Amino acid sequence: MKIVITGASGQYGRSATDKLIAKGLAKDLVLISRTPTKLADRAAQGCDVRYGDFDKPETLAAAMAGAQKMLLISGTRVGARVVQHKAAIDAAAAGGVKHIVYTSFVGIHPDNPAVVTRDHSATEDLIMASGCSWTMMRDAHYADAMIVMAGPNFIRSGQWLTSSAGGREAMVWREDCVDSAVAVLTGTGHENKIYNITGPDLQTFEEVAELITSITGRKVEVVQTSDEGMYAMWDAMGIPRKPVDDQYVKGIPWNSEDMVTFEASIREGWLEVATDDVEKLTGHKARSVRQMIEENAQMLRSV
Ligand SMILES: NC(=O)c1ccc[n+]([C@@H]2O[C@H](COP(=O)([O-])OP(=O)(O)OC[C@H]3O[C@@H](n4cnc5c(N)ncnc54)[C@H](OP(=O)(O)O)[C@@H]3O)[C@@H](O)[C@H]2O)c1
Repeated sequence: MKIVITGASGQYGRSATDKLIAKGLAKDLVLISRTPTKLADRAAQGCDVRYGDFDKPETLAAAMAGAQKMLLISGTRVGARVVQHKAAIDAAAAGGVKHIVYTSFVGIHPDNPAVVTRDHSATEDLIMASGCSWTMMRDAHYADAMIVMAGPNFIRSGQWLTSSAGGREAMVWREDCVDSAVAVLTGTGHENKIYNITGPDLQTFEEVAELITSITGRKVEVVQTSDEGMYAMWDAMGIPRKPVDDQYVKGIPWNSEDMVTFEASIREGWLEVATDDVEKLTGHKARSVRQMIEENAQMLRSV
C-alpha cells in the first residue's frame, strides 16, 4: 500500500515520515517536494522521493502515480492555498488514490471569521467531492506555536498581546496530531470520518500565561486589545497582511489577516472544541499545554 505525503520536508511531514518509517513502511512512502534534494536522507532510508509543486499541477500526476493513500498536509499560504490543494486532490483522484487523509482545522463553520478555516472548509468540500474516501483530521491550534514559537517573545516583552477576549481553545501538541494521522493511515475503519484532534484542556490565553509564569518564574501578562491593535502590532513587525508566498517573514510563516481573524475566532468561541479523539486513535492521552511548558521550561527561562 503506497502512501504519498505532500509537504514531506516540513515539520509535520518529517515527523509523520519518521513515525511511518518506524513502523517499517519506508518502502511504501512516496514523498513530494519542490526540492527533492531536501529529502536525500529519506531516499537513503528507502523512501521514493519525487518532485512535485502544488503551483505546477502538471507535475503532480507523476508525483502521485501508484499511490493508494495520500496524506495531504495543508499548504502554508493561508488564505490562498485552496487552489494548491485542488491541484493535489485532482491529481490524486485521477491517479488512482483511494483515500485522502487531510490536515484540516477545528471549528469549521460558514460564520467562523478565521481565514484559516475557510481554506480548510473549501478543501474539505473538494476532497468530499473527489470520489476518494477521506478522513478529516481537524487539528486544534498547535500548542507548539504559542509556547515554543511565540513563548520566547512573550517572555522577552513580559506581555502577550491578544484580541481573544477570554475565548477558550484546547491547544494540542503537533506530535499528537501526527500520531493521530499515522494511526489513521495505518489503521482501518477511518473512511469518511471527521476527527477533532485537540488537547485535553479548554483554556484562555490568560490561563496559559499564568502557567508560563508559574512554571518558568518569568512573568507574562496578557494584554487584551482590539483586532486593530493586533494589526498595528503585526504591521510594526513588517508582517504582510495577505499571503505573499510560502516563506517565513521574520520568523512568521503566516500573514496578519490569518492571525487576527484567528484571534476573532477564539473570541467568538468557534475554537472551543475539546475531544478525546487523540486517545481513541492513538491509545495515549493527548498531552497538555502544561506539559509542553514544563518540557520547554529551561529554554523559556533562559530567554
Ligand atoms: N493547527 C495549527 O495550529 C497549525 C499550526 C501550524 C501549521 N499548521 C498546518 O500544518 C501545515 C504544515 O506545517 P509545517 O510546520 O509542517 O510547515 P513547514 O515546515 O513550513 O513546511 C511546509 C511544507 O509545504 C511544502 N510546500 C510549500 N509550498 C509547496 C508547493 N507549492 N508545492 C508542494 N509543496 C509545497 C514544503 O515542501 P518543499 O519546500 O519541500 O516543496 C514543506 O514541506 C501548515 O500548512 C498548516 O496547515 C497547523
